Amino acid sequence: MVDKKSELAAKSSSAVSRPDRIQNPGFEPEHKRVTDESPARDSGAERGISVLFVVSALLSVAAFALNFIFPIVPGDLGTTRLNNMFVGLAIAAGLLALGVGAVHWAKSLMHGHDLVEERHGTRGSDETRGRAVEIFQEANKESGWTRRRVLRNSLIGALVAFPIPSIALFRDLAPANRPEDVLGFTSWKKGVRLTHDPGGVPIKASEVTIGSAFHVIPENILEMTEGFLDEKAKAAVLLMRLPLAELNEAEDRKSWSYDGIVAYSKICTHVGCPVALYEQQTHHLLCPCHQSQFDVSNHCAVIFGPAARPLPQLPITVDAEGYLVAQSDFLEPVGPSYWERAR
Ligand code: FES
Repeated sequence: MVDKKSELAAKSSSAVSRPDRIQNPGFEPEHKRVTDESPARDSGAERGISVLFVVSALLSVAAFALNFIFPIVPGDLGTTRLNNMFVGLAIAAGLLALGVGAVHWAKSLMHGHDLVEERHGTRGSDETRGRAVEIFQEANKESGWTRRRVLRNSLIGALVAFPIPSIALFRDLAPANRPEDVLGFTSWKKGVRLTHDPGGVPIKASEVTIGSAFHVIPENILEMTEGFLDEKAKAAVLLMRLPLAELNEAEDRKSWSYDGIVAYSKICTHVGCPVALYEQQTHHLLCPCHQSQFDVSNHCAVIFGPAARPLPQLPITVDAEGYLVAQSDFLEPVGPSYWERAR
């Protein structure tokens, strides 16, 4: 072991003392570009780059306008695809024109000589800092930032115009309606039948066996051509049947269930994921997003996780033909509790 170590140390010291085998080749001789030698080509390149920046600005404005020419119609995926395609293409082309213009400016108009930058400490000396200012001034002089006013102003115009499409793209982040107007009401109302999701087949109380769990939507949204997905997302319900002896119901809620069959909103009260995992032995519902758990036998009280309140219960009963129907809408807003709730 000692011999091996000495051998490695000897190798290492010979490597350190070995003279450099690769000589610094220095810089390649500088090649003149056409724009260096011909003022006419220089002006031509400047014009070309300005055109690219102007095109970029126009494409940004066009992307904004395309949002309105191809509007997204809620529930119509075709319009969403068209909108995304045209707006995306305009933004991409605008960015491309901006990038090509910037690269072209650097390659054809800015000085092309090699630079050497020595390494230095994190905070430079006053001399270094003074030199940095000089470099900026040199860069300004070499790029023509103050001298080439048309070029500079067209670039500024392109950069100012670039965020314009985001005004339309992010407008949906500021919802037009208050949360309680959206989540406070669903399509459930008195007499609406509970139907299978998917399929839309009405459910009879007799087919809900103990231990079973059904995904349910209201019958009255099945024919909707507009806004079906929004309504379904709010009104989705989980239907379960528990042995009566294991159902702890408060006095004022005893009439909300039917022979051990209970219905609860499927939208997690944390941030709105669908609660879809039912453990029939424990009567626990699990939200897969952040593991909130709700106790179905105890009004879906939260027994674990970040959800702040129980899942809202849908009062149900049966109609004359034995089909399960709602007694009313939910009596409290469904979904997340992040906003100030009046009820
Ligand atoms: S959304 Fe259900 S636990 Fe977070």
